[in-house]
Amino acid sequence: MERVNKVPRIAAYKASDGRRPLTMVTAYDAPTSRAADHGGVDMILVGDSVANAVLGFESTLSIGIEEMVHHTSAVCRVHPEALVVADLPWLSYHQGWKRAVRSAGKLIKAGAKAVKLEGGRERREVIEALLQAEIPVMGHLGLTPQSVNAFGGMVVQAKTIEAAGALLDDAQALAGFGVFAMVLEGVPSPLARVVTRAVPVPTIGIGAGAACDGQVLVFHDLVGFSSGHLPRFVKPYGSVAIEAEQAIAAYVKEVTEGIFPDLEHSYTGAEGLEEWASAKLSELGD
Ligand code: KIV
Repeated sequence: MERVNKVPRIAAYKASDGRRPLTMVTAYDAPTSRAADHGGVDMILVGDSVANAVLGFESTLSIGIEEMVHHTSAVCRVHPEALVVADLPWLSYHQGWKRAVRSAGKLIKAGAKAVKLEGGRERREVIEALLQAEIPVMGHLGLTPQSVNAFGGMVVQAKTIEAAGALLDDAQALAGFGVFAMVLEGVPSPLARVVTRAVPVPTIGIGAGAACDGQVLVFHDLVGFSSGHLPRFVKPYGSVAIEAEQAIAAYVKEVTEGIFPDLEHSYTGAEGLEEWASAKLSELGD
């Protein structure tokens, strides 16, 4: 399947034109980047969800720009074909456009081709400054995790007609500011359908139903490597955690029973080394 992995093509992509939906998955390091890319996604998101998915934090608020740079570099080091988008973390773009451009510049220098930020109309100045600095921007509306405290928890957003209308206004504003795509997270499917129809750029849904122009999931949720409660919108396509635990248990058993390492997994050395070792060991009293 041909990838849609360049910003201008993505910006003009609407699944309603009879095309397949776009695909995006998060990745945080070289192995997850390789797996995502070999799996064939159009876009890799270095999400600030690395905070919860990998680093054991409760929310995405615990991660800063330097950690995002670290993870973005690792993802890009294996040269994925997919377009790499990196998240601007909390407080890296909330204190004026200059700071936002500096933060985004670090992610681009680390290898990302675009950045994502959360919020609607209030992000106008920042988005325009990023675009002036030639940095493509992906928007993110709905259940935006950086607003977890303001929302009072990770709860589905825009369920009322009034709130749905406000989100639609935000989506149209973001498109007007020039974002090349926008994530819709944790919103009712009928609203996502309306937004997708109303904006000229693709919507990428997560917990937003099937009408979006694309879908995104967190890597660890998708492959079954997450622990604890999974949100309703997650479908695990694998059971990596179970396989990993089974592999570790088998290793523990073989090491403790003296089965591993065997000859097949050991080095012999040059001719005569075996005899030299035997002589040394008898000197040592074996
Ligand atoms: O950080 C992340 O993983 C995200 C996705 C949920 C879209 O922003």
